[in-house]
Amino acid sequence: MRAALDRERFGPWALVPGASSGIGKEFARQIAASGINVVLVARRDALLAELGRAISQEFDVQYRALAMDLSQEGFIAGLADATHDLDIGLVVSNAGTPNPGEFQKLDRQLLQTTLRLNTMAHLDIAHHSGFPSGGGRVSSKL
Ligand SMILES: NC(=O)c1ccc[n+]([C@@H]2O[C@H](COP(=O)([O-])OP(=O)(O)OC[C@H]3O[C@@H](n4cnc5c(N)ncnc54)[C@H](OP(=O)(O)O)[C@@H]3O)[C@@H](O)[C@H]2O)c1
Repeated sequence: MRAALDRERFGPWALVPGASSGIGKEFARQIAASGINVVLVARRDALLAELGRAISQEFDVQYRALAMDLSQEGFIAGLADATHDLDIGLVVSNAGTPNPGEFQKLDRQLLQTTLRLNTMAHLDIAHHSGFPSGGGRVSSKL
């Protein structure tokens, strides 16, 4: 099933962190299918480039692929810099990982990194996006 998005309301650009696979990849495809340009963010840049080429050909939209580790403190400055020239009307803050396992046996540094990715990264992205409260132009998995 495809959800049509209003390009006037949610475009001309959307930001999809975690677009290299899974749910985020499908979000990016469906957003592009509505004629909205997409900023694709994740660590695996080859997958982002492949997706970007595919959606730009199939849906005649632009894309920007940003290889970035969102679990790193201070990533938001790089993201802001790389998108400062774009009018972003929709954010799907989707990057994340469950890192399952027996809690005591998991590496503490890995747990902290996962916690940053699954919490602070969403907060930073939402805060940076700065849509006016009640404006209705932001969507995320927060
Ligand atoms: N599938 C489910 O049933 C389910 C249920 C509840 C919640 N969720 C949540 O929904 C989101 C997507 O799930 P999914 O099943 O589609 O998982 P997925 O296929 O593993 O996709 C996760 C995405 O997040 C990106 N990502 C992971 N770590 C990152 C990092 N440090 N920096 C930047 N990007 C990073 C991955 O890209 P790279 O590896 O290329 O960086 C990938 O694009 C996740 O947050 C997940 O926890 C999923």
